[in-house]
Amino acid sequence: MLSRTLVSLLALAAPGTALAADRECAQSPGKVLELCVSVEGGAARYEVKRGDVIVIAASELGLSFAGEPAARYTAITDARRSASDSSWEQPWGEQRLIRDNHAELAVTIAGDTAFNKAMQVTFRIFDDGIGFRYTYAGIPAGQAVGVTADRTQFRTKGSYQAWWYEGLGQERDEYLYTQTDARRITLAETPLTLKGDNGLYLSIHEAALVDFPSMLLQGDGAGKLTAWLMPWPDGVGAKKTGPFSTPWRTLLVGTTPGALADSRIELNLNEPNKLPDIGKWFKPGKYVGVWWEMHLNKTIWGSGPTHGANNDNVKRYVDFAEKYGFDGVLVEGWNQGWDGEWINNGDKFSFTKSYPDFDLPMLSAYAKSKGVHLIGHHETAGAVVNYENQLEAALDLYAKVGVPSVKTGYVRHSGDILDREGGKEWFAGQFMVQHHLKVIEAAAKRHITMDTHEPVKDTGLRRTWPNWVSREGARGQEFNAWGRPTNPPEHLTILPFTRMLAGPMDFTPGIFDLEHGKTLLTERNQSTLAAQLAEYVVLYSPIHMAADLPENYEKHLDAFQFIRDVPTDWEVTKTLASEIGDYVVVARQPRGGGDWYLGAITDEMARVLPVKLDFLAPGKKYEAQIYRDAADADYVKKPVAYTIEKRVVTSADTLDLALAPGGGQAVRFKLLK
Ligand code: NOJ
Ligand code: CA
Repeated sequence: MLSRTLVSLLALAAPGTALAADRECAQSPGKVLELCVSVEGGAARYEVKRGDVIVIAASELGLSFAGEPAARYTAITDARRSASDSSWEQPWGEQRLIRDNHAELAVTIAGDTAFNKAMQVTFRIFDDGIGFRYTYAGIPAGQAVGVTADRTQFRTKGSYQAWWYEGLGQERDEYLYTQTDARRITLAETPLTLKGDNGLYLSIHEAALVDFPSMLLQGDGAGKLTAWLMPWPDGVGAKKTGPFSTPWRTLLVGTTPGALADSRIELNLNEPNKLPDIGKWFKPGKYVGVWWEMHLNKTIWGSGPTHGANNDNVKRYVDFAEKYGFDGVLVEGWNQGWDGEWINNGDKFSFTKSYPDFDLPMLSAYAKSKGVHLIGHHETAGAVVNYENQLEAALDLYAKVGVPSVKTGYVRHSGDILDREGGKEWFAGQFMVQHHLKVIEAAAKRHITMDTHEPVKDTGLRRTWPNWVSREGARGQEFNAWGRPTNPPEHLTILPFTRMLAGPMDFTPGIFDLEHGKTLLTERNQSTLAAQLAEYVVLYSPIHMAADLPENYEKHLDAFQFIRDVPTDWEVTKTLASEIGDYVVVARQPRGGGDWYLGAITDEMARVLPVKLDFLAPGKKYEAQIYRDAADADYVKKPVAYTIEKRVVTSADTLDLALAPGGGQAVRFKLLK
């Protein structure tokens, strides 16, 4: 429900006031950030200051179009200011109520080319960052244009460290982050996180990526980053028809990593919910599934005697889900097409025909009789034309048998997706951005939620389409089964301040058998069991998997209790302590209030983190149910060693979180009545 608390207009300039100056400035509501836009020497530029610190030095704005030279901008012909302070409620999320408090400066800038004659740039200035988008209202309706370049620059000043990986790699966004001087960035994916010698933390990303290519950032070796659009096969960035607006380019600015994680700017810049009744057909929850066993090579996706998705095995997972209170059971490898080289034969996948040992209607009914639902699976192997041709029938089938939730997959090299003309598309170019939204809309019509693996990066679209509940889009747990190599401990202390800034991730936490038969460290989970529990709090997703095999949970039912208890829908989220690449501590209160949960994860260093419990309600008593690394736990030598203890605490207490090398801690604070 949308509850407008206040919408006010700044007295400085009434809306609609036409101005003709070459420089316009606006401040954020709490006067933390100042943004100026100017036109000089043929260039349109913006700058961002935080107090006296220059965050973004004069950086260019604008788009270039096919068939005309890069525009020279000549004047700001109009400037409109407004301000808005409202709150809105997420149907599900990491935070129930979101405040959208911003100043807006919308300028029209004259340029010397036909399409750039009147470029509008709308800036929204928040205390914790800014967003801006281009609108080309003057391009006549129906006029086709090709955007050849997004000229937007982000010029930082001084020295910054960056956490990034090279864009356009074959594995899309499934890479480990490296930390380097930001001047070494060649082409980076967003969200791109920077830490300055000036004490500032920045994140550059985008919001509401709809019908436009994904933006990457190209470095010049000297601190300037320029937008780079993932092109169509013919090299054009975006194909649009007039008039149009771009997604929002965003910049978060804070003095701690947690300020980035706790910013909600990108959600605020997305359009409101198009599915107001989503609460009636989707509830956040947890799931198990026929999944990890295939990644461990115990069973396979394809047909035959070791086929994982057989009736008996699925029933076993359903029974397990019922017994321990899980909502869903994911089943991969149920459909025809997996046999042989499936990645290269994606067009062989059927999304309606099951393997003979998998009875979809029977199993869905069986699950329902136990209060559980199946989670469907569509692995496309990036053969999106084959998928689109079957999309309606595939979703109709799931709707008919009562499967309310589907995981999709696009396992294919990043620039190898074939379109209808046989052109090779990037995994996050405009073609795929359109494709994903087509799937989301078709699913929404049938009240089906989607969890996309190998996706286009998240840009807050879950606000508009809350049936797009989660995505992968980073190196997840699956790498810990494969080796090549497995994720090092610091990965989980970087993700919350990089990939997770984009939105929920289906990381698939909770591996208890951390060695799974491997001796080499780079082939097994580089984590402790307590850290696996902490992942449920540290990494946000409205659906979280308990990814390990049922028998491994049954060996540690006391620790498994935390996974059973932890919710996936939150009233409030607070990042309590963090240093990117070193450690992270997050506290979240379940939606509706009451208890609190805390998750802490460290890198390969043992550490003791004192955490003040002042987030708890004052004057109340809580039972802290502490799941911590045992004194001798160590991700290399003794990953499974954990201790569970209970004690009564209040908001006046401090908890010293002792984390083993590669370890973590998970705490439930149960409100005592
Ligand atoms: C990659 C996905 O990330 C993983 O979860 C899935 O099991 C495989 N593709 C097969 O679809
Ligand atoms: Ca994947």
